[in-house]
Amino acid sequence: MRSLTIWLTSFVLLLIVIPPQVDAQDESLSAPLADLRYSYQRNHDPNGIGKFYLGREIARVMGHQGIRWLERPEREEEERLSKLIEGLNIEPGMTVADIGAGSGVISVLLSEAVGPSGTVLAVDIQPEMLEALQAKCKFLEIDNVVPVLGTTKSPRLEAGTVDLIVMVDVYHEFDFPFEMLQNISQALKLGGRVAFVEYRKEDPYVPIKEVHKMSEAQVKAEALVPAHGLRWAGTFRRLPRQHVVIFSKEK
Ligand SMILES: C[S@@+](CC[C@H](N)C(=O)[O-])C[C@H]1O[C@@H](n2cnc3c(N)ncnc32)[C@H](O)[C@@H]1O
Repeated sequence: MRSLTIWLTSFVLLLIVIPPQVDAQDESLSAPLADLRYSYQRNHDPNGIGKFYLGREIARVMGHQGIRWLERPEREEEERLSKLIEGLNIEPGMTVADIGAGSGVISVLLSEAVGPSGTVLAVDIQPEMLEALQAKCKFLEIDNVVPVLGTTKSPRLEAGTVDLIVMVDVYHEFDFPFEMLQNISQALKLGGRVAFVEYRKEDPYVPIKEVHKMSEAQVKAEALVPAHGLRWAGTFRRLPRQHVVIFSKEK
């Protein structure tokens, strides 16, 4: 009887001391329970991370293995990126940030738009992406693109210094959208703009996975959280697959 009691006591102690094993994905489900901004679901879209913000599931980050897809030659035909740049009303000499720059497809276009007197801050969280971007800029002899290694919560840009922030197919991947938008807003000059370029969720014919699309209403719901101090400045709708929802910094 005594040995049974000792055995049972040791077993209970073991259960208390050793926490149950969880894999990386499950850990993200339980870790930030204190943060009520986000909610978590075990049953979710396989292309999402099971973490939700204002009713939207956050998508998995595209790894650097996706560079060939970003650089596909048919992309201009499919997305009309040159038209996107025209719609952003960029002036020579501006400081523009390309957040989630990837291998630099958009940064290179922005670099031409801001001209030699302007600067493009190319932010990404994957060093491999920034390495590819730097190699491309070197090859093309572009010297006004500055790589910046950000974090999942901050693009690490100096406060009040940026005229325009562009995010092409990126925002839906942010692990911490609220924190990123707080820091994005802080980086903007007063009156500066932030443009969300997202695949249209409203259009079932846009051939992109569901969690990688966002409706205009959802973008507005997330950007217009009062803490960010942003105001809707307009939506550019002339691209074949994406809409460009633009906000300006008010305070
Ligand atoms: C689908 S790719 C788009 C790349 C580029 N904008 C383009 O259109 O070619 C998304 C990129 O966003 C980056 N990303 C994801 N979360 C980020 C964050 N919190 N801050 C900066 N970059 C992020 C990823 O590493 C990836 O390179």
